Amino acid sequence: MHIPFNKPYVAGREVEYIAEALRSGHVSGNGSFSKKCHAYLEQFLGVPNVLLTTSCTHALEMCALLLNIQPGDEVIVPSFTFVSTCNAFVLRGARPVFSDIRPDTLNMDESTLERLITPRTKAIVVVHYAGVGCEMDAILEIAGRHGVPVIEDNAHGLFGKYRGTYLGTFGCLATQSFHETKNIHCGEGGALLINDPQYSERAEIIWEKGTDRSRFFRGQVDKYSWIDIGSSYLPADILAAFLYAQLEAQEQIQAKRWRVWDYYHRTLDDWAGANQVRLPIVPEHCEHPCHMFYLLMPSLERRQALIAYLKQRDILSVFHYLPLHLSGMGQRVGGKKGDCPVAEDVSDRLLRLPFYNDLTEFEQSYVVKAIHEFSG
Ligand SMILES: Cc1ncc(COP(=O)(O)O)c(C=O)c1O
Repeated sequence: MHIPFNKPYVAGREVEYIAEALRSGHVSGNGSFSKKCHAYLEQFLGVPNVLLTTSCTHALEMCALLLNIQPGDEVIVPSFTFVSTCNAFVLRGARPVFSDIRPDTLNMDESTLERLITPRTKAIVVVHYAGVGCEMDAILEIAGRHGVPVIEDNAHGLFGKYRGTYLGTFGCLATQSFHETKNIHCGEGGALLINDPQYSERAEIIWEKGTDRSRFFRGQVDKYSWIDIGSSYLPADILAAFLYAQLEAQEQIQAKRWRVWDYYHRTLDDWAGANQVRLPIVPEHCEHPCHMFYLLMPSLERRQALIAYLKQRDILSVFHYLPLHLSGMGQRVGGKKGDCPVAEDVSDRLLRLPFYNDLTEFEQSYVVKAIHEFSG
């Protein structure tokens, strides 16, 4: 039996909606399906303004532009994250200041946040790892006291909640990913969630190559022109059509993912306890959207051995992230070993199990049986 790490999901109406977009005669960005996706996300999450983007990476780049990040500014990011969380700000000339993570949720460690803030800090970017909320009460309190905006990279956390409120609604801006590995996807895609309306007008201009084209199409100006910096951040309506089919099916998708997550959790709990392996920790005040399931193995050697053991059985498991402060680029901006000890340790030991909507219980039992049989 071959068990891939991920299988892009098809909810059912994607092709029908793409055909509808083609027939409509509007297949470039900001067409009717884009507008449906904007409205869906705005209403469901309670966000004042949403813009679909070509990726979460591009939504993060829009955040850096909206906050006017300049060379010499500092931006605080967790070291344990995907490169885009950081790179989007470095592109504008920012110096990343790497924060360590909490050993339980693997989210930014709010207890060490304040000492990273300087007069040059222009943003704090948090990542809700595996869709489990960061300690937003503490983070927003610290950021508020220093007048520093908070951005949520919510690539993993669509539909997750912190203290009953949707992730992506806490920061002035937040970003989503609709990459094929995410719960809801369109191959490649993303969204910018604008919670602070002061950014809405300029966001639309940056999104449309620095022009006021959207205002022109609404009849608010009689010609459109170049009025700010910007880029081409809006996806074709064909992709939005695909995405809308997925958003409409979100309840079924989330139910499938819950089943997969719960099966791993139930069947691996005892084994983990007996083998010094840690399963994901979800604090009581967090609801996670079952984006991934990981194991924290006792050592790098055991992690590598389990990946190889599963591979022999045609089961693909993966590790991530290499701490950003120890990457080639991270070291060039001053990162060094020991700066973020928890991120360094976790990065060596974390293993992600195959996780996709259509993973059957039969396939999962094959994965779990292999793990139970693993002795190193
Ligand atoms: C935390 C985080 N941020 C950003 C991204 C980038 O997302 P995208 O591929 O949509 O640009 C990813 C990708 O997986 C991610 O895990």
